[in-house]
This record gives sequence, C-alpha cells and structure tokens, in this order.
Amino acid sequence: MHEMGLSRRSLLSGALGVGATAALAACGVGADAQSAPVPVAAAPPPSQTRPSGATRTFRLTSAPVEVDLGGTVVSTWAYGGTVPGPTIRATAGDRVQVAFANELPVPSSVHWHGLAIPNAMDGVPGVTTPEVPPGGTFAFDFVLPDPGTHWFHPHTGLQLDHGLYAPFIVDDPDEPGDYDHEWVVVLDDWTDGVGPSPEQILADLRDAGGHSMMGGMMGPTDGEVAYPLYLVNGRPGNDPDALAARPGQRVRLRIISAAADTVFTVALADHDLTVTHSDGYPVEPVTAGAVRVGMGERYDVIVALGDGVFPLVAEPSGKAGLARAVIRTGGGALTEAHHRPPELGVAPLQVGDLTAAGSSTLPARDPDSVQDLVLSGGMGAYSWTINGHTYDRTVPLEIRRGQAGRLRLVNHSTMSHPVHLHGHSFQLGPAGGSGPRKDTVLLPPMARVGVDFTASNPGRWMVHCHNAYHAEAGMMTRLEYVD
Ligand code: C2O
Ligand code: CU
Repeated sequence: MHEMGLSRRSLLSGALGVGATAALAACGVGADAQSAPVPVAAAPPPSQTRPSGATRTFRLTSAPVEVDLGGTVVSTWAYGGTVPGPTIRATAGDRVQVAFANELPVPSSVHWHGLAIPNAMDGVPGVTTPEVPPGGTFAFDFVLPDPGTHWFHPHTGLQLDHGLYAPFIVDDPDEPGDYDHEWVVVLDDWTDGVGPSPEQILADLRDAGGHSMMGGMMGPTDGEVAYPLYLVNGRPGNDPDALAARPGQRVRLRIISAAADTVFTVALADHDLTVTHSDGYPVEPVTAGAVRVGMGERYDVIVALGDGVFPLVAEPSGKAGLARAVIRTGGGALTEAHHRPPELGVAPLQVGDLTAAGSSTLPARDPDSVQDLVLSGGMGAYSWTINGHTYDRTVPLEIRRGQAGRLRLVNHSTMSHPVHLHGHSFQLGPAGGSGPRKDTVLLPPMARVGVDFTASNPGRWMVHCHNAYHAEAGMMTRLEYVD
C-alpha cells in the first residue's frame, strides 16, 4: 500500500495512521521539503495572460449519432457528429465564443475542464450555468486564461460516459514548439451500443450489493466497470487511429483521459516518453517507459521517433482489454490488437514523480485556510461521500477571495479517486514547493495529499471525484467564496 501511487517525492503518504509523518505529508510537506515558505501580501492574478484582442467563434452541437467502431455501428451521443467531438483550439488571451445547441432528447450542459474561466461560464447546471433543454441553446463567452491541454464534456448525470467529449487546446504564444508533429490522443472506456447503457451500469452497481462487477477477493482499486471496448480517438484496437511521421522526428502527444471509470497506463512501443506538462502546466521534463493517467487528467509528452510501426497502447488498470493507436514512420506490420508492449511491464511514471517547472510554481505562502476533503464510501451500498456526505447533503468548503487555500485530500477508501477542482488549479503542496500544478489528481487507495491554490476566481465551484459513477453516487462537493 505504501508504494501505491504518488509518493516517491513524499508528496503523498501511502497510508493512514502513521502519525506525524502522515500529518506532515497531508500538508504536502515531505522529507525533502524546503524551508518555511515566505508569505506574500497579495494574491497573484489567476494567470499571466493578457487579452490578445482576438475573438474566436465556434459552433457546438450535441446530438444523437451513429459511429463505426471498427466495423460495429453503434448509436451514441456526441458533439459535432464525431467521437471525440471537434477540437476547440485558440491561444491564451483570446476571447472565445461558443454557440452551443443541444439536440439531445434530454437536457445537457458543457463544462470546460481545466479552464479557469468566470463562474457563470463553468457549465454546471444548478450551480453556475443554466441547463440547456432539448432544442435549447447557450452562448458561452470567455477569455482564455493559461495555455494547456484541456477538454470539455457535459456536467449532467452520466452523459460523459456516452460519446460526449472533445479536446480544448489553448496554445501558448511563447511556446517554442520544439517538435515536428502534434497529436491529440483521447482515451476512453466505451459501452454505448456494445454493452449496457451508463444508466444501466449505475443501476447494476447499486444492485450489486457489495459484489464488484469485476469480481475478486480484494475488489478493484481503479474502477469497477469491465467495459467491452477501450478507445483511442474514438477508434478500437482493430481499427486504430494513426499518425504518419518520419524517423527522427519529434512528436508532442497531448494525452487526455475522457474515461468514466478507468485508469489507463500509456506506452509507445520501443520508445521512451518525456513528460513535459501535466493538466496543461509545465513540469521539469522526466522520461519514463509508461505514464499512468487518471480520469480527467492530461499529460503532454514528447517522443523522438524510431523507424518502423509502433503501437501507442493504453492499458486499462485492473481490467481486460487494450486501447491503442499507431505511429508509422516506416514499413512493417502492426502487431496484433492484443499485443502488450514490454514498456507496460515496468512501473509507470506517476504524478509524484513530477516537479513543477518554475513558471508553474505558485508563490510560496502559508495557507490562510486549511480544509479537509475526506473521500470515503464503498461498493456495499454503492454510496460515495466527501466529508461524510453524499452531494445532496454536502456541506460546501468555503474560501475568501485572495486567500491562500490548502485542501488536505484524504482517501479513506480502497479505491483510487481522481479529485478535480473547477475554476482553479492547485499545486501539490506546499505552495512554492516542487509539486506539479494540476486540476485533477489521482489519489490512490488510502493515500493523502495536500494541494495549495490561490483563491482568485470567485464563485461556487465543484470539487469532485472524476469517476463518473462515483460522482453520480454522491462523491461531489463545492468550494464556495464567502465575503
Ligand atoms: Cu471534468 Cu466537474 O469535471
Ligand atoms: Cu471516486
């Protein structure tokens, strides 16, 4: 248990109940932490970004659609008629206007995951933004803050586990672009048309009464649902999406997990991955054979290509099956769809292996506010809670504008949970320390981590587990600004 997850730099302690060590780790202060942070007087602005003066307009429609999954045509819901939906792309500082039309038979919404934009544009029905009825529209309008690899999806029920997701790439005007190709790689666990509906899956989880759908004595730790298919860029392993390049070229992969209930380990056969960004923020580059990606997380990696045909494989943790795409720089046959490259057999890089690049470090500052966020629950009643309550009975966290906030995330359950904060990013603590800057952190079973953030974006913001089934079963709360 101690070795699970993120703990290599003492950002996380892998077990509860080890007294002072755990308490320190909960504050994000590990053995190699620096001396006391220097308080600063005022909150920094939420981003470095200056308005560019440019306005980009997009149309976005959600609607029922049929898609071909390697020869099997299935009905699903998607944005713009494709899975993933069309990428929205602009430059930090741009004003973006998205005319959204909901052509689904049910109410829907659009949440811009990773964008620290004004609260009214955040897309959470009942909290920030009106729900869009069938046939209805909503005009989104916001200025893009920090650059990075982000994405969007509905914030309504289990709609994310249909085909409703797409990348949102915010370019950095100062990015040197030291690569020849860029490839957005979206991972997903898929059931529409080939398995039970997401709504049926949740009903089955609730009926299972303590028996995991995955079986096993210990139960699963990284998601409960055995999906019939795992996809990269909307394509199954027998019909993979492909990138054509030349040997020696460098590729920037922007990996996004749109999975609902699956943690993936990603590797490119015969290559190392050099991780450069996590959730859009730069990290000190670190090279690994594979990277573990939780639901909602993003990792940007650079690869220097060899000569041949290389599967880019995403293995669902604790589940059968593989997702894959392929990079071709030369001749040769692609391996069988079930081929598991040896890179998947070594310990993958995890978030605790990452350190913030200087520009993504928050100012060192003692927290004005320290709050616990305790994740618990289990398969028995299929109820998942934050601080002891399901979302319908939640007691929101509170913060004042300008404060330095610290959240002590504690996983008191035997499953991993990707914890996501809307409207902000946080640094795996302490602020000013070496932890990466993120908006979603995968917390292993029984682990804890402190995250620091600056309260610079007033509103009522969701904080929740990004496992769609856990969230729907109660594992959500809010962070609310108070005067
Ligand atoms: Cu990716 Cu509350 O969202
Ligand atoms: Cu969870």
